[in-house]
Amino acid sequence: MNTMDNYLIPVIPFHEQILTRGEGSFVYDTKGDKYLDLNSGQFCTVLGHSNPELVECVKNASSGLVHTSSGMISDAVLKVSKQLNEISGRMDARSILLSTGAEAVEFAIRYAKHLTGREGLVCFEKGYHGLTLGTQSITFGGRYTAPHVEQIFSIPVPSGNDYDTSILALKNIIDNDGDAIAAVVLEPIVSVGGMIFPEAAFFQEVSSLCKSKGILLVFDESQTGFGRTGSWFCYQEYDVIPDMVICSKGIGMGYPVSAVLFRGGLCEENHMTMTHYSSHQNDPFAASIISFGIDYIERNHLLSSNKEKGIYFLDKLKELSKISPIFTRPRGHGMMLGLDIEIPGVTNYRTIYQKVYDLAAQKRLLIQGTDGGRVLRFLPDYLISHENIDFCINVLGEIKL
Ligand SMILES: Cc1ncc(COP(=O)(O)O)c(C=O)c1O
Repeated sequence: MNTMDNYLIPVIPFHEQILTRGEGSFVYDTKGDKYLDLNSGQFCTVLGHSNPELVECVKNASSGLVHTSSGMISDAVLKVSKQLNEISGRMDARSILLSTGAEAVEFAIRYAKHLTGREGLVCFEKGYHGLTLGTQSITFGGRYTAPHVEQIFSIPVPSGNDYDTSILALKNIIDNDGDAIAAVVLEPIVSVGGMIFPEAAFFQEVSSLCKSKGILLVFDESQTGFGRTGSWFCYQEYDVIPDMVICSKGIGMGYPVSAVLFRGGLCEENHMTMTHYSSHQNDPFAASIISFGIDYIERNHLLSSNKEKGIYFLDKLKELSKISPIFTRPRGHGMMLGLDIEIPGVTNYRTIYQKVYDLAAQKRLLIQGTDGGRVLRFLPDYLISHENIDFCINVLGEIKL
């Protein structure tokens, strides 16, 4: 059996390993080889693969009630809406459960347009929000969206503490087209665009500019949310209260579950009259999974341990970058970290990245690159051990091109 021997739509080039099962931070392939999965699948299995307690929760949830009609409500959904409200803190959130990140972003866009009566959206030039028609229009490279979505404006991602250019760009858009803008949709940490960590002060300025023009601020916390940065949501560390927050990936712990949070009062202030239907909205199955996740993270103090392990991982990346001829610019926030590959004279990093990936995989480490292979990103599961972080660093340190 090889990965070419399939009847799948070839939407992406597949790696050569054919996986059969996962356990904790590891996955196993058909040859029985064991790999450290440093990115929790696609940043989703935050409690590790096949976490026994999650498996038990799924068994119980599926032998109870997994799904209801759109107009019915279940006790599991009522319970999780209260829990999400509690962990949202000062945002005092109202929520809806959905399935994927793109679906959640589409929902937010749909309601931002409805609530403001405006069409326009502002995004980062290098943001990523999914690949449906609406989300692709605000995703890096969205200019390829067909049909073209009107009224999309973008601002540069700030680099370090230099955010004046981005703020100026936003001010210009607001001065010229502010009355047409429904929402500013931003990732608090720009992941696909190259692991860029804008400062809290930038988001605070964006928030007050939005407020001054009645523009909604939407945080896409698909990657940063549900504890990854060491808080329930990254906005809580930036001291900003967004109008909407998108949470996917980690919140499903490997299952296709997402949520959108609205700031308390948002619906009442704006007369919400539009209805929404999606077959799996507010499924009790999704609710049980999220409730379990919140309990598990609290019981095991994973917010504080993510902070601590994030610092440990970052320190190790810093040590590595001091001695490595190819890895540079270690950076991170909680369990979301990045590292650049830099080789003098190289501008196209795709082939180099493929070599790095292959050499790491030969040593049983699965990594992921972004931004044309120039950047490595690390979003491990929250339960990864310090020894496994060390293993990753050792493997990267041994890579010779
Ligand atoms: C920030 C962000 N938003 C939205 C999405 C889209 O999520 P999904 O692939 O589940 O549709 C992603 C996926 O990587 C993401 O990183």
